[in-house]
Amino acid sequence: MASGEYRWRGGFCLEVKPVPNTIVIFGASGDLACRKLIPALFHLYKRGLLHEKSRIVGCARTPMDDISYRTLLRKWIGESEELDDFFSRLHYMHGDYADPEFYRRLSGRLDEIEQEADADPAITGRIFYLSMPSALYETIVDRLGESGLTAEDPSGVPWRHVILEKPFGRDLDSARQLDLHLHKTLQEHQIYRIDHYLGKETVQNILVLRFANTIFEPVWNARYIDNIQITVAEIVGVEHRAGYFDSAGLLRDMFQNHILEMLSLVAMEIPSSSAADSIRDEKLKLLKSIRPFDRKTLAESIIRGQYTAGEINGTPCSGYRGEPGIPPDSETETFVAMRLFIDNWRWRGVPFYLRSGKRMPRKTSNIVINFKPIPHSIFSPLKAEDLTPNQLILNVQPQEGLTLTIQAKQPGPKLCMGALSMDFKYASILEDGSGMPDAYERLLLDCMLGDQTLFIRNDTIEYAWSLLTPILHEWETNAESAGPVYPYAAGTWGPKAAEDMPARDNVFWRNETN
Ligand code: BG6
Repeated sequence: MASGEYRWRGGFCLEVKPVPNTIVIFGASGDLACRKLIPALFHLYKRGLLHEKSRIVGCARTPMDDISYRTLLRKWIGESEELDDFFSRLHYMHGDYADPEFYRRLSGRLDEIEQEADADPAITGRIFYLSMPSALYETIVDRLGESGLTAEDPSGVPWRHVILEKPFGRDLDSARQLDLHLHKTLQEHQIYRIDHYLGKETVQNILVLRFANTIFEPVWNARYIDNIQITVAEIVGVEHRAGYFDSAGLLRDMFQNHILEMLSLVAMEIPSSSAADSIRDEKLKLLKSIRPFDRKTLAESIIRGQYTAGEINGTPCSGYRGEPGIPPDSETETFVAMRLFIDNWRWRGVPFYLRSGKRMPRKTSNIVINFKPIPHSIFSPLKAEDLTPNQLILNVQPQEGLTLTIQAKQPGPKLCMGALSMDFKYASILEDGSGMPDAYERLLLDCMLGDQTLFIRNDTIEYAWSLLTPILHEWETNAESAGPVYPYAAGTWGPKAAEDMPARDNVFWRNETN
């Protein structure tokens, strides 16, 4: 079916406009703020979703005034007629994040800016976005608290929200400590822990697909599903983040958050409603049902790899150990493949294969649901196992959409059949030509609306770490049970051991070739 033939029929829009609020971005001159956050706010503004009394205040250490900050951002947003009006809502302040005086000045400046915007202080919310290394979280949150900036009226209006980017600790203990520290100043409903994968269209669509349709839920279980694969592959290496990445490694960087979050959404039970905590309760329950890894079989269930020199799309790439800032003897993993089981009624015996890696042949994130073969073939001499089983692919990126493979008769007088792929791409149904919204647009809007559904709760973080910390511990202390860090050439789908892992179950990764 050509993608242009997909059409909406009817529809409900649950989009709500936020109350006036002021967004303060710490780390405002950094990469994330310039490349993602401010452009996302600009797009919300263009779609009429930034309240006319909302203002943005960038904070960073670099001395700049409002005008030079706006000039810096111009190249990231690109020229647009609306830019000057948007920029009139954007301010800048510089200072030292550890200095209480900076927060006193910030407090005064926010009052001034909101007064100029004619925003009623009794209802104007404030967001503090900490777009900076997590080592600074405790200091900044402490200072915000001491200066009264995060204090909320008991009624919750006006609200004060704090957005944090991962990493939330580097193991169970450090995550718990960070959480305890944050809770000295903030209540859980004020903390918005971002996982940008949850803002991606296809990831959000998992909930709609599963719980707003009748046809998927009856087959979404061990009776009909043979295995599920989640792949997050990237072409990039460590880029300019050598220091962070080499001490974190891929398991912390991608599994603790993005991959386990996607797994929870795909595998969780049906929540009682779409309320944030209903969904988050089910995600937590799912994480608690993951079978802990057995150290005796750890090296078979989890394969680690590190890229060596190779070539991607004709461009030579150096090996991980040759990247600037990476120690030449680093053992840090840049690839992980994992096989796990979920011990509950729904998923009994269904293997989940998860993998993620840097310097792979292409950038792709997808979830592949492989259904079981039909139980019996009436199309003799074809046997049941001769017919390709159904496959549902949720393409998270780069081409968001769905692919469903079914058996179908080929047109013609003879009975010939084969696997037919129905390929739907979101881009084909965007009517206004605006392009797919960036994940940060949705997440910033949700924070303005006080909706924590797509943000991660502290207990979920803790459970994710409970699952991964023993693995990290084995890797760090027990070479025998950990197994080797297998080399793989840049531009390949990871080490051979990662192909062998599902192959032992007679399952093969779906590797995209074009
Ligand atoms: C980040 C990781 O969370 O996600 C990066 O820290 C990774 O290492 C990035 O490159 C991938 O995000 P995306 O949206 O490009 O798939």
